[in-house]
Amino acid sequence: MNVNRKVLTLDEFTLQQLRQFPTATGELSRLLRDLALAAKRVNVEVNKAGLVDILGDVGSVNVQGEDVKKLDVFANNQFLGVLQHGISCAGVGSEELDEFVVFDDELSNNSKYIVHMDPLDGSGNIDVNVSIGTIFGVYRRVSELGKPCTKEDFLQPGKNQVAAGYVVYGSSTMFVYATRRGVNGFTLDPSIGEFTLSHPEIQCPPTGKFYSVNHGNFFQYNEGVRKYIDGCQKKTKETGGPYTQRYIGSMVADVHRNLIKGGIFMYPGTTDKPNGKLRLLYEANPFAFIVEVAGGLATNGADRILDIQPTELHQRTPLFIGSKNMMIELEEVAKL
Ligand code: AHG
Repeated sequence: MNVNRKVLTLDEFTLQQLRQFPTATGELSRLLRDLALAAKRVNVEVNKAGLVDILGDVGSVNVQGEDVKKLDVFANNQFLGVLQHGISCAGVGSEELDEFVVFDDELSNNSKYIVHMDPLDGSGNIDVNVSIGTIFGVYRRVSELGKPCTKEDFLQPGKNQVAAGYVVYGSSTMFVYATRRGVNGFTLDPSIGEFTLSHPEIQCPPTGKFYSVNHGNFFQYNEGVRKYIDGCQKKTKETGGPYTQRYIGSMVADVHRNLIKGGIFMYPGTTDKPNGKLRLLYEANPFAFIVEVAGGLATNGADRILDIQPTELHQRTPLFIGSKNMMIELEEVAKL
């Protein structure tokens, strides 16, 4: 029989990783498998979004006061469902939910991980067939095993993540995840319904040519950030510009591109919203973990994202993230 050994599925890959740790329990591998299963279900619905009557607002607003799309609700339920029925997750914090969810049953109370997630990021792009994504961060719980997880499990700094990842529903669907050992990307092969290893050991190039920022907010950014953005459009010694501006409005797609090709993504604070728009626990922390493992950097302008001690679930943070040398240039030019 002719076996194509180049094709490695996500499950095969995580099992291979597991073999290198004889004492590992396999809980994290199962958790990743659960997340991938939910991602496949969401992918099916995302692909059908233009065909079925699933577009539009549910009619409610989420806890941040934003319109909730039907697909957001579907994605949230899918990820919650697989995590609750799996055996690796004690509870979930979701961008779509006001409070964290505790899976208070015997199996879940003995699970060592909790998950923070943004089940469908960039949902403003659903109606126009532009890439959207899912983001997740996995933490080892700090509360006592055998009991329901508690708020302190959900308010850990990002540096405590044991894994983080995202799914991009784009021209193809990719599942990318990082542990401290590395970042690996898997592309969904629709013919077999499996995520297969397509981007092994992703390294963020130390410099790149892309900068991603909402230019419409330019005059609401502070002087340093405006100076850096100006520099991105000029050929200067400091920035090495001009760079190419790319901003999709789906952070998953923007950071994914910059992770692979090199670049910087910024969502700074504005005069109206000093903490910007993005959520520390659901968006900034997972990406900061992934990008740092890949060799890049992430800051809120004052502190490393992963060092921030969260005080509330839905806390927002300014975010600057990307290729190491571009981040150093940003700090030098903007004097963050
Ligand atoms: P949403 O899920 O509400 O569409 O938000 C998307 C996030 C993020 O993915 C994106 O980079 C950013 O918001 C875009 O916000 P602006 O439109 O303010 O630039």
